[in-house]
Amino acid sequence: MIEIKKLSKQADNKFILRGIDLRVNKGETVAVLGPNGAGKSTLLKVLATLIKPTAGHVLMNGLDLRKNHIEIKKVIGYLPHSSLLYDHYSPLENLVFFGNIYGVNNVEQRAVNLVKEVGLSFFLNEPVKNFSRGMIQRIAIARAIIHEPEVLLLDEPHTGLDQGAISILNNVILSMKEKGTTTLMVTHDFKQAAEICDRIIIVKNGKIVDDFRIETRNQGFVSEKYELQVEGVS
Ligand SMILES: Nc1ncnc2c1ncn2[C@@H]1O[C@H](COP(=O)(O)OP(=O)(O)OP(=O)(O)O)[C@@H](O)[C@H]1O
Ligand SMILES: [Mg+2]
Repeated sequence: MIEIKKLSKQADNKFILRGIDLRVNKGETVAVLGPNGAGKSTLLKVLATLIKPTAGHVLMNGLDLRKNHIEIKKVIGYLPHSSLLYDHYSPLENLVFFGNIYGVNNVEQRAVNLVKEVGLSFFLNEPVKNFSRGMIQRIAIARAIIHEPEVLLLDEPHTGLDQGAISILNNVILSMKEKGTTTLMVTHDFKQAAEICDRIIIVKNGKIVDDFRIETRNQGFVSEKYELQVEGVS
């Protein structure tokens, strides 16, 4: 569960986040939509404990972001814009490396299974530097979930993926949801948001301007809400 109260972030005298209040329940999958520069990635970076908020409070599975950031890092899986992978390492070496940081049991077996799950078993021992963007993104997804996190923070996870990889990613998100994982997913992809999320929030100028449940798995419904809030079209 994620509880955010009056969260703000200021940098260079500019307010990037301005009083975010949000509660995401355990097992809920929430998409974060909004125009470029709205503050979506900044929100995820604060939740991933990479940058400190200027004001406000955050609880993740009951852990206070200001006091328990080491424990919080074990609970979360964060997929940023960049892959965080080591170029000269293979998928297996990367996943074992990151798995060891989190103290994952039977880490090699877990790594091999994950590489299989993202459809890259054939490239298990190839250096990542030779991979295409979509292949890197598949391994980056495996890295983010190596320790079976209870909270997933995904920043534009569908970017660069082909249709096959999109369904692999969606199945990963849905199967983690079944285990009770809470997911916050930044995306510009209304179709994926409508298909796999329970709820959508729209961020504009560092504020949440809309928050609604997905009633029909129809991207038209999401686009209408988005246009109304972001482009002022009704
Ligand atoms: N460290 C920083 N110092 C100053 N300004 C920053 C910093 N980090 C982000 N910003 C600014 O904050 C705003 C929000 O950035 P952010 O990356 O959160 O947007 P975003 O909603 O993820 O956009 P996109 O859809 O393009 O990924 C931008 O105007 C950006 O220039
Ligand atoms: Mg961003």
